[in-house]
Amino acid sequence: MLLLASLLLPLAAVASVPYEEYILAPSSRDLIPTSVVQVNGSVTNPKSLTQSSGGGATFKGISSVTYDFGKNIAGLVSLDVSSASSSAAFLGVTFTESNLWISSEYSDATGNSGYDSPLWFNVGKGPGTYTPEAKYQRGGFRYLTVVSNTTATVKLKSLNINFTAAPTQSLRDYKGWFHSDDELIDKIWYAGAYTNQLCTIDPKYGDAITSQAEDITLPETNAWYSNQTIANGSSTITDGAKRDRLVWPGDMAISLESIAVSTGDLYSIRMGLESLFALQQPDGQLPYAGAPLGIAVSYTYHLHNLIGLSFLYRYSGDTNWLSSYWDQYVLGVKWALESVDSSGLANVTLSADWLRFGMGAHNIEANAILYFVLQDAQTLAKDLNQTSMATQWASTAAGIKSAANKLLWDSSAGLYRDNQTTTLHPQDGNAWAIKANLTLSTSQSLTISKALKARWGKYGAPAPEAGATISPFIGGFELQAHYLAGRPDAALDLLRLQWGYMLLDSKMTQSTFIEGYSTDGSIHYAPYTDDARISHAHGWSTGPTYALTAYTAGIQLTGPAGSYWSIAPQPGNLTTVDAGFSTSKGIFSVALKRSSSGGGYSQFSFSVPSATSGTVKLPGVSGTLVSKTGQKVKLVNGVAAVPGGNWKLQGSRS
Ligand SMILES: *[C@@H]1O[C@H](CO)[C@@H](O)[C@H](O)[C@H]1NC(C)=O
Ligand SMILES: *[C@@H]1O[C@H](CO)[C@@H](O)[C@H](O)[C@H]1NC(C)=O
Ligand SMILES: *[C@@H]1O[C@H](CO)[C@@H](O)[C@H](O)[C@H]1NC(C)=O
Ligand SMILES: *[C@@H]1O[C@H](CO)[C@@H](O)[C@H](O)[C@H]1NC(C)=O
Ligand SMILES: *[C@@H]1O[C@H](CO)[C@@H](O)[C@H](O)[C@H]1NC(C)=O
Ligand SMILES: *[C@@H]1O[C@H](CO)[C@@H](O)[C@H](O)[C@H]1NC(C)=O
Ligand SMILES: *[C@@H]1O[C@H](CO)[C@@H](O)[C@H](O)[C@H]1NC(C)=O
Ligand SMILES: *[C@@H]1O[C@H](CO)[C@@H](O)[C@H](O)[C@H]1NC(C)=O
Ligand SMILES: *[C@@H]1O[C@H](CO)[C@@H](O)[C@H](O)[C@H]1NC(C)=O
Ligand SMILES: *[C@@H]1O[C@H](CO)[C@@H](O)[C@H](O)[C@H]1NC(C)=O
Repeated sequence: MLLLASLLLPLAAVASVPYEEYILAPSSRDLIPTSVVQVNGSVTNPKSLTQSSGGGATFKGISSVTYDFGKNIAGLVSLDVSSASSSAAFLGVTFTESNLWISSEYSDATGNSGYDSPLWFNVGKGPGTYTPEAKYQRGGFRYLTVVSNTTATVKLKSLNINFTAAPTQSLRDYKGWFHSDDELIDKIWYAGAYTNQLCTIDPKYGDAITSQAEDITLPETNAWYSNQTIANGSSTITDGAKRDRLVWPGDMAISLESIAVSTGDLYSIRMGLESLFALQQPDGQLPYAGAPLGIAVSYTYHLHNLIGLSFLYRYSGDTNWLSSYWDQYVLGVKWALESVDSSGLANVTLSADWLRFGMGAHNIEANAILYFVLQDAQTLAKDLNQTSMATQWASTAAGIKSAANKLLWDSSAGLYRDNQTTTLHPQDGNAWAIKANLTLSTSQSLTISKALKARWGKYGAPAPEAGATISPFIGGFELQAHYLAGRPDAALDLLRLQWGYMLLDSKMTQSTFIEGYSTDGSIHYAPYTDDARISHAHGWSTGPTYALTAYTAGIQLTGPAGSYWSIAPQPGNLTTVDAGFSTSKGIFSVALKRSSSGGGYSQFSFSVPSATSGTVKLPGVSGTLVSKTGQKVKLVNGVAAVPGGNWKLQGSRS
């Protein structure tokens, strides 16, 4: 019996989702509120609507109840009304992600001026269930207020939300997991994964921006609705849950990889990317955003389209899909290279970017991203045996690297300047310079990492190129930059400081990550005039989910679907890490333990699919890797090349 039990254990472990208790996604799509926040006027038994046994709340005259769902959610509201004393009786419903905008008169905003109007139901028409049209699904809210605006008495039997996000997912069936000895770090990983679930929608209910455009002609109504079809298929990734509910290629440069290592919902990513490539112009230009916004142009977002194609291919391993887009990809690279002038750098003449200011000229961010794309393009070309352009790409890339370091490096600050005519040192271009390997040495990367950290304030890492702003989007690239500079503790410190604030502050949703805020910690994002407009569930703020899997646990795919991989953990001061995810080839996982932070490994094991191969890097560690099938490979200078399998480190010293 004992033997049988131990044989069965690993199978059971594979079948269930590890650390499922951390997953924030609900187990049912039929939700009721978890608690009452406040009651105004006379309402009897409001709490009954938070219990599945029900009972019913009675509103007598003008009154309201604000409910909390315990976390940010998305969906279509239904009110089940038992009775109303007058045919003129109405119930209204308002929504808000942050508790700053709780009101019986308005919802938080999808537009850029004012608030959104309540949804009203003429419940005096009789008993029954009142549900609005599907276009009134609210993409993000934690708090919901029910208001009665007449002298009537209304009995509300129940209040339900049909959870509409991530429509094709089995919501808690994650393909990835992350666990460490630091609870806050673990919660950040799972909040990032959940944020991306809320940003994944049925493509028929996209674009909350178009309704805002119509608001401008109808300011008195503050109408809102999401009814634009933004992609093909049954699910797509978008930028934000509440708004814009549009496909933005830049946002995907972060959210794509965080999705790939958590829910593994590559289908919704593919639908989003295909909607973008459908908008490519004959000259190669790719869109700033997906349909119906598409038309605008951004140099950096053009490049992000190309990055998205490459990232999805790396996780899916679908060579046929990449081949079918290869001509479009090459044309997209060609369009970008037309901006490279005799200096060797791209001269950007389009100001649109991630809503930072001053994008233009020989900009460091744009050139670092272009350098990244040119390196990536050479790898893809090799995979497809389509290398005719590769030599030209390599030489242009070399020119960018040399010119950027000659013209934009400011050695006195230890940072790159934004362009040649400014003393501003941006967060985006400096983080990207490390990520793209635009730096000339590891010591230069280290210098940048230290200079960026020296600028942190009480609430996180500033992005001076966007005013007094903390951008969790660009912060996601800064996280990666610290790991790439060999400073995992700086990355963990930034996670605890910035994402810790975003997760725990009472004005936030304590479940999803906000799109941007002020360096003074307030809910204000410099590019917007209306603070109620800020999205509290934005995929571009989910960088930690990927960074923790790819750098802390150190699991990176270096070939399609992980046919090649690298295992190079940088646990920083964590003493336990257990992480993994799967691709079509199988499960990739790492588990490690250290007796003290910064010490040697008392346990180190990893598992990768059998038909793959890769490199293990454990700097400063000696010992032998032993596979389950008995193969032994000695670490040489902390490095070993091994085939797939289940491996353990033995005889570790460091
Ligand atoms: C309830 O009343 C208080 C005090 O008048 C007010 O500040 C608050 O906004 C009201 N809440 C709602 C949801 O109307
Ligand atoms: C209640 O709200 C509805 C919908 O806006 C409106 O038609 C109705 O006149 C309001 N009733 C009162 C008494 O304000
Ligand atoms: C939620 O909405 C979906 C799509 O319209 C529908 O199929 C499902 O039955 C609804 N669920 C509930 C509990 O109303
Ligand atoms: C979206 O809803 C608005 C408001 O009801 C309506 O005017 C518009 O025609 C709808 N658009 C689509 C594409 O259905
Ligand atoms: C949807 O698919 C059709 C047929 O492949 C294509 O022409 C169209 O551009 C696609 N639309 C979007 C938004 O992806
Ligand atoms: C150069 O950078 C500064 C700082 O970001 C910005 O204000 C300026 O507009 C940029 N120059 C151009 C030509 O874009
Ligand atoms: C970039 O191009 C614009 C438009 O041709 C030109 O005015 C500007 O001087 C160029 N900037 C640099 C830094 O060469
Ligand atoms: C590229 O060439 C290699 C070696 O000839 C071959 O194994 C591989 O299948 C080719 N790849 C594609 C996408 O044609
Ligand atoms: C980064 O660039 C340097 C040359 O400047 C090169 O030696 C190194 O291999 C590159 N690193 C990576 C990871 O590509
Ligand atoms: C890691 O560092 C953080 C911040 O300095 C500290 O709060 C935490 O206790 C440390 N963890 C361990 C295991 O040393």
